[in-house]
Amino acid sequence: MLDIRTQVGIVGAGPAGLLLAHLLAVAGIETVVLEKRSREEIAHTHRAGILEQGTVDLITALGLDARLRSEGFTHHGIELRVDGEARRIDFADLVGRSVQLYPQQEVFTDLADGAAARGLDVRFEVTDAELEGIEGESPAIVFTDTDGARTRLACDFIAGCDGSRGISKRAIPDELRTDNFREYPFGWFGILTEAPPSADELIYAHSPHGFALISQRTPTTQRMYFQCDPSDDPDRWTDEQIWDELDRRTAAPGFALTHGPIFDKTVIPMRSYVCEPMQHGRLFLAGDAGHTVPPTGAKGLNLAAGDVSVLARALERHYREGKGDLLATYGATALRRVWKAQHFSWWMTSMLHTHPDANSFDNRRQLGELDLVTTSRAGSTYLAEAYTGWSLIPTAPGYLDPASALGEVLASQLRGSGDMSPSR
Ligand code: DHB
Repeated sequence: MLDIRTQVGIVGAGPAGLLLAHLLAVAGIETVVLEKRSREEIAHTHRAGILEQGTVDLITALGLDARLRSEGFTHHGIELRVDGEARRIDFADLVGRSVQLYPQQEVFTDLADGAAARGLDVRFEVTDAELEGIEGESPAIVFTDTDGARTRLACDFIAGCDGSRGISKRAIPDELRTDNFREYPFGWFGILTEAPPSADELIYAHSPHGFALISQRTPTTQRMYFQCDPSDDPDRWTDEQIWDELDRRTAAPGFALTHGPIFDKTVIPMRSYVCEPMQHGRLFLAGDAGHTVPPTGAKGLNLAAGDVSVLARALERHYREGKGDLLATYGATALRRVWKAQHFSWWMTSMLHTHPDANSFDNRRQLGELDLVTTSRAGSTYLAEAYTGWSLIPTAPGYLDPASALGEVLASQLRGSGDMSPSR
């Protein structure tokens, strides 16, 4: 067994794990990041494409925003299309904020390139990782390195950033863990197509035939989704059938969806999940390891950015100021933002999808809700505020200490978002 040591061992090199490693590096805290998958596999897994303003500000403060600026697109609103009628939600007007369309796998590439440039220790394709001693003073991650050497990484703390199917959350004993879970009776059929954009902004379409979302990627490739049976087989659908389905769900006067060759098809399950607590002993969960949202509203990566901001500052407080208060309350603090976003993701999903067992009352009520949200300033302001995102960290004492190395980085996203609301 090879013995190595670091301050914070991070399980998972997705956006949560890499963002945490970058933030801790700013605070002068040493990390080793261990990842099961290859770098190529993560970089080629298609994920959602919307970054909240706070997430953009955080990436910018870390100096990793060059490609996000040159290849991403700023969106100042979205269209809700209600049975063929366009209802725009104007984020800029309602809350003075915007979002960035820039896919998660590109964020990953920027974080991984930045980690290499910064000299961070990130190891891909390690196997058989196990957590040891998380309830004691000296936890460890035991794993097999790419050269086959069984290795013991001793650390002060472990950050579980290994996604919804990772090992970390299962290390919290069953009798202490509550798995808050909901499954939806539909999934999303996602496609990538070679075509120019069909609209300037994203279209979230409610229709009697089911939900559809017209998103974008580049001037020549587009991302689109439509509500489907969660057990559907993507290969069962021909391109023609897919376009028929997308056309009838997005039909509106004067609108024509631009078709093109489809080069990727997947069925995405829809789940809501929150693990409580998000910390146990010296283990701290962050990102999808602690919670999953259904994709409507694209909150996944943004929630991870919030978790790791809170965790990084709590660890900095421990190491630099000798205070364990923020670490002790990490889970409870992160969960407040998580549950707000859980509600938003559930609400967008419920409001926009066709429910298989809905009766005429349910359907008419849903249209009443969409009418309210798109015609009342109060209603649309809630959507705009939640979609563009709340501040990543609380403004409570201790989080924004200007004397701390992270204080400046974390404060940047509050200034950018203009959101100085108290810690809710
Ligand atoms: C995308 C995905 C989403 O879930 C969403 O709400 C908006 C955009 C996307 O992949 O582009």
